[in-house]
Amino acid sequence: MVFKVSLVSTSPIDGQKPGTSGLRKKVKVFKQPNYLHNFVQSTFNALTPEKVKGATLVVSGDGRYYSNDAVQGSKATGGFILTASHNPGGPTEDFGIKYNMENGGPAPESITDKIYENTKTIKEYPIAEDLPIVDISAIGVSSFEGPEGKFDVEVFDSADDYVKLMKSIFDFESIRKLLSSPKFSFCYDAMHGVAGAYAHRIFVEELGAQESSLLNCVPKEDFGGGHPDPNLTYAKELVARMGLGKSDTGVEPPEFGAAADGDADRNMILGKRFFVTPSDSVAIIAANAVGAIPYFSTGLKGVARSMPTSAALDVVAKSLNLKFFEVPTGWKFFGNLMDAGMCSVCGEESFGTGSDHIREKDGIWAVLAWLSILAHKNKETLDGDAKLVTVEDIVRKHWATYGRHYYTRYDYENVDAGKAKELMEHLVKLQSSIPEVNKMVKGIRSDVANVSSADEFEYKDPVDGSISKHQGIRYLFEDGSRLVFRLSGTGSEGATIRLYIEQYEKDASKTGRESHEALSPLVDIALKLSKMEEFTGRSAPTVIT
Ligand code: G6P
Ligand code: ZN
Repeated sequence: MVFKVSLVSTSPIDGQKPGTSGLRKKVKVFKQPNYLHNFVQSTFNALTPEKVKGATLVVSGDGRYYSNDAVQGSKATGGFILTASHNPGGPTEDFGIKYNMENGGPAPESITDKIYENTKTIKEYPIAEDLPIVDISAIGVSSFEGPEGKFDVEVFDSADDYVKLMKSIFDFESIRKLLSSPKFSFCYDAMHGVAGAYAHRIFVEELGAQESSLLNCVPKEDFGGGHPDPNLTYAKELVARMGLGKSDTGVEPPEFGAAADGDADRNMILGKRFFVTPSDSVAIIAANAVGAIPYFSTGLKGVARSMPTSAALDVVAKSLNLKFFEVPTGWKFFGNLMDAGMCSVCGEESFGTGSDHIREKDGIWAVLAWLSILAHKNKETLDGDAKLVTVEDIVRKHWATYGRHYYTRYDYENVDAGKAKELMEHLVKLQSSIPEVNKMVKGIRSDVANVSSADEFEYKDPVDGSISKHQGIRYLFEDGSRLVFRLSGTGSEGATIRLYIEQYEKDASKTGRESHEALSPLVDIALKLSKMEEFTGRSAPTVIT
């Protein structure tokens, strides 16, 4: 099939700045003439023509509404991921696009800044004329010939490669044994995202889980009308099945439950009537990886977390003498460390966990990691009469050994952007006088430790020396507690303020409290210090995780 290429003139469109994880907007915004074309061409321009010419580029995504149109329309054969991750999908919801680099990881800021600059000056883009639509639902190769020669478009099933990779990392036999034990029970909720396709292949076909253990595992363009974000608020069905819902279902919950977001990179881990915070999850995986996961049998190169993630991982790193890094929010910051062989396991409070097997967080990997740890801890218990070591047992033992980081996050979604900015400016201004802050803190609650320092987080990448500023406002307390305020970089409308609250408890006899009770003094301080209600007009957060 021979086709011609013509040059289409265009003009810049406002607001095409990639956020924490690519460009995310409502579908109707993406459907505007030239919107997607401008962004894709600006990306090609940022990568430079030499790099793009003759390249093999991959296009994939979470299958949300508008994905098919975007693949055809962009004519890309490249590292583009069509997803708005955990944001809802459908004609009136969100679409997104991000570019990933040769190493498989999200483009660094140096590239996304260039993309944005290009979107402000773009004048034209080349486009193929009369190119037949490629049927992306059928596996196979289509060959084309353009003005610069021949090229192929290959539609392939990424699940094949993924299953192979997982089998080289984990001991599938031991997980299969766990899943087939009558003492164990399992449930997986893909929230109608792309994880459903993988879940069937891996959990049912490879590991022998029952079909009935899969919830919402048929991928849908609009995620069944849901909000595909695996947390206690949005993964309602799983939460109820695991016995964490408001009303008792009367059915004994499974021993293990997990959920994924739209593009399957996030994960939530639950035990029976028990929630594992993402910050604890990465710390527990790091603490147990070497014995439980064959891929790590020779040891961990290092571990890393994002700044707002609790310091549970820090304590494990210290105790196991591992290299440790604290990076800004955004998975791209882990990639450099991994490429340089400095980090094996990393995680974020935002339900992302992963390792250096790829350069993105990996929701299914996280579930397999937990199943491996459970299989390992239950080596002796599956056959005999002994009691199963549960998710809750593992977490409580971890707290008893390393101490517990009580942790919660308050999100104020779709707040007026100007007001959100004012709140942040107010918090930065307060930081100029710590004695003044402490006077206010003591006035609000006398039972809270003093603030020892406060700043805006800044990161110098140890590999390439690049500096990222204004990565969140921190208030650090003398007892290790922290308050962090950040504006989300992944929303598509207004601003989302995130407030992260953390308190460290070393005393093993005090690690079993209710989290909201332990954190209530700090919550009080955070809300009053920031004048949250005054600035946002909100008396309560949209979501608490
Ligand atoms: C995406 C990124 C994560 C990041 C998260 C937080 O999921 O891949 O690395 O932690 O967004 O985004 P936020 O909305 O807090 O900027
Ligand atoms: Zn995601």
